[in-house]
Amino acid sequence: MKKNIAVLPGDGIGPEIMEQGIKVCKAVAQKFHHEFEFQQGWVGAEAIDRTGNPFPDETFELCKQSDAVLFGAIGDPKYDNDPDAKVRPEQGLLAMRKKLGLYANVRPVTTFPSLRGKAPIRPELLDGVDFVVLRELTGGIYFGKPQGRSEDGLTAYDTSMYHRYEVERIVRLACRYAMQRDKRVTVVDKANVLATSRLWRSVAVDIAKEFPEITMDFMFVDNAAMQLIQWPKKFDVIVTENMFGDILTDEASVITGSLGLLPSASIGQYTSVFEPIHGSYPQAKGKNIANPLGTILSVAMMFDYAFQLQDEAEAIRKAVLKSLEENFVTEDLTTDNPKTTSEVGDWIAERILE
Ligand code: IPM
Ligand code: MG
Repeated sequence: MKKNIAVLPGDGIGPEIMEQGIKVCKAVAQKFHHEFEFQQGWVGAEAIDRTGNPFPDETFELCKQSDAVLFGAIGDPKYDNDPDAKVRPEQGLLAMRKKLGLYANVRPVTTFPSLRGKAPIRPELLDGVDFVVLRELTGGIYFGKPQGRSEDGLTAYDTSMYHRYEVERIVRLACRYAMQRDKRVTVVDKANVLATSRLWRSVAVDIAKEFPEITMDFMFVDNAAMQLIQWPKKFDVIVTENMFGDILTDEASVITGSLGLLPSASIGQYTSVFEPIHGSYPQAKGKNIANPLGTILSVAMMFDYAFQLQDEAEAIRKAVLKSLEENFVTEDLTTDNPKTTSEVGDWIAERILE
């Protein structure tokens, strides 16, 4: 199989972890006789420095022409500490999501037996956790207009907005996922307060009628935040709006033992984007210490979802499991002889080739 892959390393540790992702793709290509062509594009702070635009048109075109996009991370502290900055790297990520129509962000959360005890939650609560969060990615308060400041600068406002069709398509996707799993969908909202959430509920009830085998329940987001930590095993598929999904998936990452482990797929109209859920981790930039497994598992999701190459995806996941079992991992996961980012990448690539 021949595929074009757009590679957008982005900021902070993005380039270092992306290098490991590409190593893994190359190992898969060699082992399974595929041909992958990688083309790099600028995004984020790096793109602002070069072009003034955090998601330049050339990058957009590159993504559209590719069979899949691998994305690293975005964000730079020089912008975080400057609330008056006219352009911000994060706008590049949001522009990418909007322009590529990446409406569904799929974030699976599972525990790894070999990491038992690494999470700050009692291990017996976590054994066998296996759920997936579908986060709506192109609507809600991230994109609603108006957004801004009053003229006197004393008030600021954001708008959360959803159209019926935006809710329909993500809830339908959640039900399809659930049909392949335990057939349970939890819709997370704040319907006791927010009008958008009440729209979500009524649309979800309608969509559920298309899937008579599915059990759907509803949970307020504050309660969901609590239950996710207290009884994470009871969830199967969670579907929620953009900002709730952002917050809950960072919370959920604690369950696995490290934020550096969680992969994600963003399903789009033109192409799909695969990225770890963690950020640009600027403190670690250039130090070769960041955990590349979230990126490598995102590569596995690319093989699964974008290329329908399940054996290849499985080979990657097996190698990752092995690195966890043998404690061949970065310093976020072990104090006992931690390995560097590139050592972990090399090791995984070698296991795939074996
Ligand atoms: C994520 C990130 C982004 C988001 C930031 C970097 C804009 O936190 O992908 O979860 O909020 O969506
Ligand atoms: Mg986030």
